[in-house]
Order: sequence, then C-alpha cells, then structure tokens
Amino acid sequence: MAYHGHNKRADFTKNTTKPIGVITRGTTGFNRLRRCDRWVFHNPELQAAFRLGKPLAIDVGYGESYTTTCEWARFLRKMNPRFEVVGLEIDPERVLPPRDGVRFELGGFELAGYTPQLVRAFNVLRQYDVDQVWDAWDLVRSKIADDGYFVEGTCDEIGRRATWVLLDKNGPRSLTLAWNPWELDKPSDIAERLPKILIHNNIPGHKIYDFLQAADDCWARASGFEAFGPRVRWQEAKQMLRHEFAIDRGGLVRDNRVTIAWDEVY
Ligand SMILES: C[S@@+](CC[C@H](N)C(=O)[O-])C[C@H]1O[C@@H](n2cnc3c(N)ncnc32)[C@H](O)[C@@H]1O
Repeated sequence: MAYHGHNKRADFTKNTTKPIGVITRGTTGFNRLRRCDRWVFHNPELQAAFRLGKPLAIDVGYGESYTTTCEWARFLRKMNPRFEVVGLEIDPERVLPPRDGVRFELGGFELAGYTPQLVRAFNVLRQYDVDQVWDAWDLVRSKIADDGYFVEGTCDEIGRRATWVLLDKNGPRSLTLAWNPWELDKPSDIAERLPKILIHNNIPGHKIYDFLQAADDCWARASGFEAFGPRVRWQEAKQMLRHEFAIDRGGLVRDNRVTIAWDEVY
C-alpha cells in the first residue's frame, strides 16, 4: 500500500452546512484545462444536453486564480450563451469578485446548495487520499440535476497531458486521455497524470494497465504512419485499439485523445 500521509482527508460523514473538502494547493494556470474544455465543447451528447434552457455549471476548486473558470465559461457559452457559471473554492481567501459573468463563491463537494447540470473538478482530488474519491464522487452525484454530468480530472502544470472521468447520476461512464500529440513518446506516458482513482492501478492485474499496454502496442504497430505526424499515427493506432476495447469513434482532432468506457478500465 502506497503511503499517502502527505495527502488530505475530508470528513464526508459530517452533517454540516460548511463546505465539504479540505484546502489544498491552489496552483492553476492560463489555458491549463483547454483539452477538457475542447472535449466538452465537441461532445455530441453534452452539446445536446446543454443546448436548451439556462444550464448551470459549477467549477469546484478553481484555485488561486479566476482563469480556468472564465476560460471554461467562454467555451460553455459558445454551446449555449445562457450558461450560468459559478466557481466554488473551499479556501475563503481565494474567493474572488465576479468577473466575465462568472460568480465565485465559498463551497465544496456539497456544491453550496446548487443543483447544476454540469460540474467540473480538475486537479482537486489529486491531493486527497484515494479512498476518498468515491465519497466525493457520490456526494457530487447526489447533488447534480437528474440529467447532470460531472467531469473529474487531472493534468500537468501546463495542461499538455490531461485525463478525466465523466460521471452522471448513475456513476462513472468513461475515461478520457488527451495529450499534446508531440508530447508523448508512447500513450502510456500519460499514466503519471491519471485521475486519482486509477493512478495506483497502472500495474499488472488491473484493467487500466492492460489498456495502456494495448495502446502502446497499437502505437508501435502504427509506426509506419509517423511520417504523417503523430496525430495521423494515433488515428491509425486507435483503429487497431477499437478491435479490442470500447473506445470512441472520433476522427482526427487537434489533441491526441481517446475516450474509453469506464468498465474497460476499472
Ligand atoms: C490545484 S488547484 C486546481 C485549480 C484549477 N481547478 C486547475 O485545475 O487549474 C486545487 C484547488 O481546489 C481547492 N479545493 C480542494 N478541495 C476542494 C473542495 N472540496 N471544494 C472546493 N475547492 C476545493 C483547493 O483549495 C485548491 O485551491
């Protein structure tokens, strides 16, 4: 068992009106979450879900700056200009005045009494103990709208490698891996940025390990396409991977990316 003494523990059992969670490092950065923002923007199911009405989106744990929440709001409002966007932070000192039509408030995984259609928590659970992930997921799922979604993920400092889980009211649905096509030597190099729930599972005997190994294998077999660049090579690798795993059918896009059904990786 890995040592996680440096990680944070929240008390999810408390029946309290206080924000649920713990204050962690507030590191963030401009454009850091762009790969996930682009994925949400181009996802047909999410587009259809958010097209009408006045959906509410909550960014849990935006950190020490407004930046990623305001960038997210710009993407979301291209899908639906009436999107209402709220950033929640558990650290009262990081709560900011409103900006670019986005409000910033004190709150945690209890979602501060809101019932949103979309929740995002990026680079938040990474600093918690792994055995707290399901508690946090369950709490957020219990608070979103019946047709709501929750995106929980992790990325590196400047967002070149990003991974996230899509959940809905019923539980986790899929895992997405996305990276700068020129960044990785092989797909499994993204393993260091897997969501907290999976990060210690990248060892033999676990599904995510098998998937990443298979992705590397297909990537190696697609080496003949390297002359056309890493994006074309990844498309070829994905075609092969699709014979073995339930992955998305998305075509050539800016990011190298793959979305896989949750039960294929956990
Ligand atoms: C590393 S920053 C991430 C900032 C931004 N989301 C990003 O990815 O760039 C994590 C932030 O989440 C906050 N946080 C941790 N647990 C939280 C919770 N349960 N609810 C709200 N904020 C939380 C921390 O205080 C910290 O400011």
